[in-house]
Formats: sequence, C-alpha cells, structure tokens
Amino acid sequence: MSNRFPRVGVIGAGQLARMMVAPATALGVDLTLFASDSNDSGAQITHHIIGDYTNLAQVLEFAQKCDIVTFEHELVPLSVIKGLEAEGVKVYPPSSAFIYSQDKAAMRKKLRKFPAPQSQIVTSASEVTDFPLIAKAISGGYDGRGVWKVEDAPELIEILKHTSPLLIEELVEFDTEIAVMVARSPHGQATSWAPVETIQEDGICIMTVTPAQKISQVVAERAQQMALEIAQEVGVVGVMAVEMFVKGDEIFINELAMRPHNSGHWSIEGAVTSQFEQHLRAILDLPLGSPSMNHQFAVMGNVLGGEKTDMYRPYLHLMARTPSLHFHQYKKEVRPGRKIGHVTACGDDLLHLIQEVVHARDYMSGVIDE
Ligand SMILES: Nc1ncnc2c1ncn2[C@@H]1O[C@H](COP(=O)(O)OP(=O)(O)OP(=O)(O)O)[C@@H](O)[C@H]1O
Ligand SMILES: [Mg+2]
Repeated sequence: MSNRFPRVGVIGAGQLARMMVAPATALGVDLTLFASDSNDSGAQITHHIIGDYTNLAQVLEFAQKCDIVTFEHELVPLSVIKGLEAEGVKVYPPSSAFIYSQDKAAMRKKLRKFPAPQSQIVTSASEVTDFPLIAKAISGGYDGRGVWKVEDAPELIEILKHTSPLLIEELVEFDTEIAVMVARSPHGQATSWAPVETIQEDGICIMTVTPAQKISQVVAERAQQMALEIAQEVGVVGVMAVEMFVKGDEIFINELAMRPHNSGHWSIEGAVTSQFEQHLRAILDLPLGSPSMNHQFAVMGNVLGGEKTDMYRPYLHLMARTPSLHFHQYKKEVRPGRKIGHVTACGDDLLHLIQEVVHARDYMSGVIDE
C-alpha cells in the first residue's frame, strides 16, 4: 500500500456507502462497493460488484482485491467477518468489536461497568414481573423494528412467539435521547464530535440537533468521555455511534452502531471533518481530522417517503425559500416511511434552522404543499 493510494472495499451499498464516495474521491482513495443490486443507493454512483454478503467465498473474492475492507450495515454475519480475518484480510471494525453492535445481549454484558437500563435475557414471560418494559430482538433490529414497548404479560407472550430470546430492559423515562459519534484508528487515536440530540417518532429518527440542547455542559462532557472510553473498551476501528438516554444528570447507554450513522449526517456540512471522511481516515490509520463544528448549530432532518415520488421538483420551492439549506438524496425507491434523503441547515439561529429543516422535510415528504 506504501506507494499508491489504497483501495477500500465497503460491504453494503446503501446511502452510507453513497455518502462515503465524496470524501473518498477528494482523498484520492479508491472505493469499491459490494452491493446486492446495481440499483442500490451507492452502487448507482461508484465502482461495485454484485454479490451476497452472507456468502464468505464471494465476499473473500471481493476483499482480496482491496487493501482494507469495511461495511456500512450491521447485517454482515460475524462468521463472514471472521472468515475474512482468518484469510488475512484487514477488516475494520474487527469482528472482536463488531459483535457489540450486532448483538445487544453481548453489548450489555461487555459494557457492564457503564450506566445502562437494567436488563435481562428471557425466553418466557414468567421471568419478568414489572411492566411496562422494553423488549428487544437481540440482533437484526433497526429503525425501531425489533423494539417493543410491552404493557403486560400477554403482550410479551405474543412477542416471544416470533422472537425469542428477548432482551428485556427497564423502560427509562428519559428527558432526551442523544448520540455521541466517535472515531478510533488502529493505533488508538480517537476523537468525538459534540453530542447530538436525536428526535425519534415511531422508533425512527426524524431530526437531529447539534450540539444537544437539553443537556448541561457537564453531562455533554461526560457523555463524550464515556463514548471515547467505550470505543477503547470494545476496540472499534472506524466511526461508532453511542446512543444514550439522559434523565436529569444521569446517562444510560442505549446501544452502539459501528459505522457512519444517521446521528452524524449533520457533520457533512456542520463539522470540519465529516463522519464519512473520518471513517476513511480511521480505517486507513491516517491521522484523524478535526471534529470541531463549523457553525454554532447544525440541524438535520430525515426525509421520509410519502405520497410524493418526484424529489427533484421540490428543489424549485425549497432552494428559493432557503438558499442555505443542504440537500442529500439517496435515490432509493420512495416507500412510505423509508428514509430517502436528508436536509441540513447550519447557523447560529437555532429556532430558524429547525423551522427551515422541518418545513423542507415535510414539503419533500408531501406532508405540506407550500
Ligand atoms: N430501555 C429503554 N427505555 C426507553 N426507551 C427505549 C429503551 N430502549 C429503546 N428505547 C426507545 O426505542 C428506540 C429504539 O431502540 P434501539 O435504539 O435499541 O433500537 P434499534 O431499532 O436498534 O435502533 P436504531 O433505529 O438506532 O437502529 C430508542 O431510540 C428509544 O427511543
Ligand atoms: Mg437505536
């Protein structure tokens, strides 16, 4: 790798891979995606090969053409990652870390010394007595799928019929949800961005505000410190999101995502170094970039699929109304409730930024028409 720019292979070709393309191009790093379909969000715009990420032989053939391999979703079987490592492929994050983003039960056990909701693993409703509670699939959940608020034992029995074992958690009556994005390189350099407030509706993130407003400076610093300690503890390489709940001055660790994350999209325009560039720097063991903010605030709104299918025409109205707004299209088929893009606004008037982002997001989704 010494005399040439490295080739990075990304398993998965969704919007996260798509957003990695711009910084890779700028850095002169060759990016190749392992896509499921040539119509995948990232595959539409860059080199890719088509294959099945659960098939070790296919992934290995791809990996052997790359200097470093990473992934953009959590569905790659751990056995495939271990299989690559056994063949000497450099995969980041390594399987020894990745398991904690894939298996919520293993994560809870590994992070015992960090504050978290009380939890237990159950296969039968008779093992719990306190309701309401939160039940979670141990792996495979995303965007709130695989997470249930359970009011009573009969409801739990129903869930256990299709998902067992379950991770049962105390229902935390938090004041706010935050995420701290961190990046860590193989030699252990680590940085974190300011804590982000994540606002969810029906289990799906709809907006983020950076820096998180509803927490004190002390909590913000503790949250960043904790995220850096967790990065070290699990040995992640690349970027990682540490999702947390905050109640008063108390922090509870919710879960980890070891890849660029929705709560870091604001950093494309709002930080000196975006999460996508930082991920590349980290896995390549390059010195990390600055996570400092470019503006006082950054607000990001997810555009969810609705009635509208034409995502280009809305530009006429929105760009005229708010010239400073940034648009990102994932070019995915519009389906109700699916994340199909996002908008970001940066500046120093938070209320105004939120208004413009909410307006643009709702206008693009078709919730409002002016
Ligand atoms: N113990 C808890 N107490 C209260 N609310 C919770 C708890 N665990 C999860 N939630 C709520 O459910 C949401 C989804 O949970 P979690 O992040 O574990 O699931 P996920 O589907 O894997 O997430 P993601 O959308 O980040 O992929 C959280 O963002 C939070 O709003
Ligand atoms: Mg989550």
